[in-house]
Amino acid sequence: MILPPGIFKRTMNKRCTVIGDLNIDFILSGLKGLPELGREIIANKYYLDIGGSGGIFSAALSGLGIETGIISKTGDDFFGSFLIKKLESFGADTSNLIIEDNSDTGITVNLSYEKDKFQISSLKLIFSLEAGEISLKDLKGTGIVHFTSYYVMNGLKKGYCGLIDSIREKYKDIKISMDTNDDPENKWGDEIYKILEKVDIFFTNEKEAINISKKSNAYDAMNKLSDHVDTVIVKLGPRGYIARAGNREYKDKAIQVAYKDSTGAGDNFNAGYIFGLLNGLSMSRCLDIANICGGITTEYLGGAGNHAKFEKIKEKIKSQMEGE
Ligand SMILES: Nc1ncnc2c1ncn2[C@@H]1O[C@H](COP(=O)(O)OP(=O)(O)O)[C@@H](O)[C@H]1O
Ligand SMILES: [Mg+2]
Repeated sequence: MILPPGIFKRTMNKRCTVIGDLNIDFILSGLKGLPELGREIIANKYYLDIGGSGGIFSAALSGLGIETGIISKTGDDFFGSFLIKKLESFGADTSNLIIEDNSDTGITVNLSYEKDKFQISSLKLIFSLEAGEISLKDLKGTGIVHFTSYYVMNGLKKGYCGLIDSIREKYKDIKISMDTNDDPENKWGDEIYKILEKVDIFFTNEKEAINISKKSNAYDAMNKLSDHVDTVIVKLGPRGYIARAGNREYKDKAIQVAYKDSTGAGDNFNAGYIFGLLNGLSMSRCLDIANICGGITTEYLGGAGNHAKFEKIKEKIKSQMEGE
C-alpha cells in the first residue's frame, strides 16, 4: 500500500480538538521494593511527562503531524508551564487552555513496577472544567472532537450531552470520539449510555468495557456497546484489540515490543486511529496504525515520551504499510 503523500506533514485542513484531562505524570521506575509507611525506597530512574488521557492524546496526535488543540485547565505555575512547553514542542495548540491563577496544576505520581503501578493523584483543577467554559468557536476547522476521562471530569458531567448537541448543531460534519478511561469511584453508572448514543467512535479497554456493559468478557461487551455507538474499539493491552463497526468485526494481536512502561499506551493507540481517520484511511488501516502507536509507546518511559519515539512510530508505519 502507498501511503497518501505528505501524510506526516502538518496542515490546517486536518485538525482535532481534545476536551478532557491534562496533568503532570511523575514516573518513578526501577524501584527496589514496595512502599511502606515510615521507610524510604530508592528508584533508579524518574521521568516527568505530560499526563492525563487528554494531554497524552494531544501530544501523540501532534507528534504524528496532526494539528491538535486541547481544551483543559492548568495552574499558573511551574508544572503548568512545563505542560504547555512540552505540548508545544510536539506542535500542539495550547491557545485554548484555561490557565487559572492560584490553582495547582494536576499531578499524578506513578510508582512503576514491571507488572503494575501505584498512582497517587491531586487533580482538583481538572475536575472543575465546565461545559459553559468551552467556547464553540474554538472548534472551528476541527474534523474530530475527542473527549477523554468522562468519570473524572466531574464539572463537565452535567453539561456533557448539551455540549455534544451544540457542537453537532454548529458543525454538521464534526465526528465525536470518546475514551472514558477508568471510573475511580468504581460505580460505572448507566448514565454513560445517553452519551454513547451521541458519540461516533468509542475507545475503551477490556476492564472498562466489561464494567460499562456488565458483560463477562470483552467480545460480549463490545457487541453490547455497539448497539449504542457506530464504532467500538476495545483495547486488550499486550493481547492487541477487537473492534466493531456495524456488522464488520476487526481484531489483531499486539506488535512485538521491548517493553518498558505502559503509561498512555491506550491514548497513543487512540491518537494513531484518529491520525488514520483524518488522513482518510480505511478502518482496518486506522487500527493497524493505532496498534503500532500503542505498542511502540510501551518501549519508552512516559505517555508522551520524546521526539525519537514519534520518529520510530512513523518509520514503523511507513515500513509496515509500504511493505504490503
Ligand atoms: N505490552 C504491550 N505490547 C505491545 N502492545 C501493547 C502492549 N500494551 C499495550 N499495547 C498496545 O496499546 C494498546 C492500548 O493498551 P491498553 O493497555 O489496552 O489500553 P489502556 O491504556 O487504555 O488501558 C493495546 O491495544 C496495544 O495495541
Ligand atoms: Mg485508557
